[in-house]
Amino acid sequence: MSRILIIEDETIIRNALRRLLERNGYEVLEAESVEEANELEELDGTDLVIADLRLPGAPGTKAIGLIPDVPVLIMTSFASVRSAVDSMKQGAVDYIAKPFNHDELLLSVERVLAERRLARQNRALKSDVARSYPVAGMVGRSRPMREVFQRIDKVAPTNATVLVVGESGTGKELVARAIHEKSQRCAAPLVVMNCAAIPPNLIESELFGHEKGAFTSAVNAQQGLIEAADGGSLFLDEIGELTLEAQARLLRVMEDGEIRRVGAAHTKKVDIRLIAATHRDLHKMVSENAFREDLFFRLNVMEIQLPPLRERGKDVRELAEALLQRSCLQLNKPGMRLAAEAIDAMCGYDWPGNVRELEHAIERAVILCDSDVIGCDLLVLNARRSRQIPGNDNTRADLSLEEYFRAFVEIHQDDMTETQLAKRLGISRKALWERRQRLGIPRPKGR
Ligand SMILES: Nc1ncnc2c1ncn2[C@@H]1O[C@H](COP(=O)(O)OP(=O)(O)OP(=O)(O)O)[C@@H](O)[C@H]1O
Ligand SMILES: [Mg+2]
Repeated sequence: MSRILIIEDETIIRNALRRLLERNGYEVLEAESVEEANELEELDGTDLVIADLRLPGAPGTKAIGLIPDVPVLIMTSFASVRSAVDSMKQGAVDYIAKPFNHDELLLSVERVLAERRLARQNRALKSDVARSYPVAGMVGRSRPMREVFQRIDKVAPTNATVLVVGESGTGKELVARAIHEKSQRCAAPLVVMNCAAIPPNLIESELFGHEKGAFTSAVNAQQGLIEAADGGSLFLDEIGELTLEAQARLLRVMEDGEIRRVGAAHTKKVDIRLIAATHRDLHKMVSENAFREDLFFRLNVMEIQLPPLRERGKDVRELAEALLQRSCLQLNKPGMRLAAEAIDAMCGYDWPGNVRELEHAIERAVILCDSDVIGCDLLVLNARRSRQIPGNDNTRADLSLEEYFRAFVEIHQDDMTETQLAKRLGISRKALWERRQRLGIPRPKGR
């Protein structure tokens, strides 16, 4: 039986919600505020939290991360779409507008719980799959990629700090995960922080945590990501975006193996392995005084450089085939293949967005293709960026971005959350919402 924690201060709503959930076979815990929830003894077995946004004391979004790995659904009054969007940004899995419709609420709950079950199964599956590939899920046999794989195998078992560099979309995050999964720390968490996605003034408190009252919005003491990664690895993505001050504090941790929460008097020992990634030229940033030289040397103990896709020769074809198979499975369109001229066009193209661009091009083609064979008309490669291949005029499909957007959303919206959709489209959730409005593609009911 799944257990749901309701955090809601209005008794009438809380009771109604509890009865509804209990009638549908859920076990329910209740609290009137985040602080009260924090005190509950039975928290551990909770599978989902439903929290009102406006509560006495800390807002409902503070329930995010209260119990590790437990999703939080935020309830907001109908009018405040903006606050709903904000709470999604902070990591809520979904939001429900009040007054809520019973069926919609139950559907949301069921979906979030089902996703959580799936994620757990996936994790178990992934560890099985990992055993059968040199580097889990990474396709490539070109010489530069073989060197990358060898490097990964060499550095993974050590505790050395690794800096992964490469153009955007070349697979830096995959490499970071592979290093963690092949290390002795693999049973402990890999904690990811995207330095570009966090407002600069919050980076320190994210990394180091803070004590209660350290600053105005610090209602509770909070563990930082470094502490959360204790015993495991911390992946600092887009490290080139750290402010100079945050760089200085990070350096301290690396030198002493100690952290101090913002507002705290004492330091604490931690044992983490750092993996960092950036698409920026850190050498250049160092020479422009935008990146600390001492930190750079500490991070750059081992460097793994990912080659751009255009330098990977025949890998393009192998990747295209692998990504095609994956898209076909996901979109339930089995048995598609790439026409010879489509493969030629792909091999002659520059791929400024690297593997990510290839992935999107394939997926778009699978969505739009009416037959079993994908020709180069469906690939929409930017002809100007193609190196000329004799006998191939790189015909462009006359397909607007809007048509693509519509097709993508309509096909995926039943099996993806809005957050996942936005991520795959490479836009923010807010932008997705606005575009839905503008193009008249409403979000389906019950999600
Ligand atoms: N060698 C590979 N084999 C299979 N898939 C790959 C490979 N490299 C990258 N991908 C896929 O391409 C996409 C982009 O990879 P990833 O997010 O790791 O790139 P990145 O370098 O971190 O990009 P960015 O700089 O934009 O953050 C992902 O979906 C990833 O699964
Ligand atoms: Mg990345």
